[in-house]
Amino acid sequence: MASLVGSEADLSDFLSALLRLEYDAIEAYSVAIDRFDDITLKIRFQRFRADHQRHTRDLAGVLSRRGTPAPEGPGARALLAEGKVVVGNWLGDRGILRAMLSNEEETNAAYDRGLARIDLGPELEFLLARHRDDERQHRSFIVEQLALTGNAPDEPASEEFLGARWG
Ligand SMILES: [Fe+2]
Ligand SMILES: [Fe+2]
Repeated sequence: MASLVGSEADLSDFLSALLRLEYDAIEAYSVAIDRFDDITLKIRFQRFRADHQRHTRDLAGVLSRRGTPAPEGPGARALLAEGKVVVGNWLGDRGILRAMLSNEEETNAAYDRGLARIDLGPELEFLLARHRDDERQHRSFIVEQLALTGNAPDEPASEEFLGARWG
């Protein structure tokens, strides 16, 4: 099921949900980094995880300036994110990349929806746009890596494969 982070009525609720999604992403990245065989993928993903860690610090800062207690860890969705990576592991590095692409589609969509809000104000809009640039970079890298290796003959043809089991 697609995440609908970004469509919350209240700005603080949105920022809290976005922060939890970032924690989810960090957990998924940690699993992926642990399971990749390819060392260059491990290193690149450590950088991407660091981006998400910076995003959590930024978002927690915004929430605290708004006087809202910031979530300190992932929501219930952590299991879902990890589940996707676990399935990915079964398919090797390429499977992990596919699972992580699915996770990145969610963070990208959440920032897209968030940036369409009219209640952000210029400062927050600037911050979220920078985060979204990072998310786009993460997604592009994964798409490139998948394109480089091409479709394996025994691989399910579409992302629906993962969605059907874990979405
Ligand atoms: Fe992020
Ligand atoms: Fe990301």
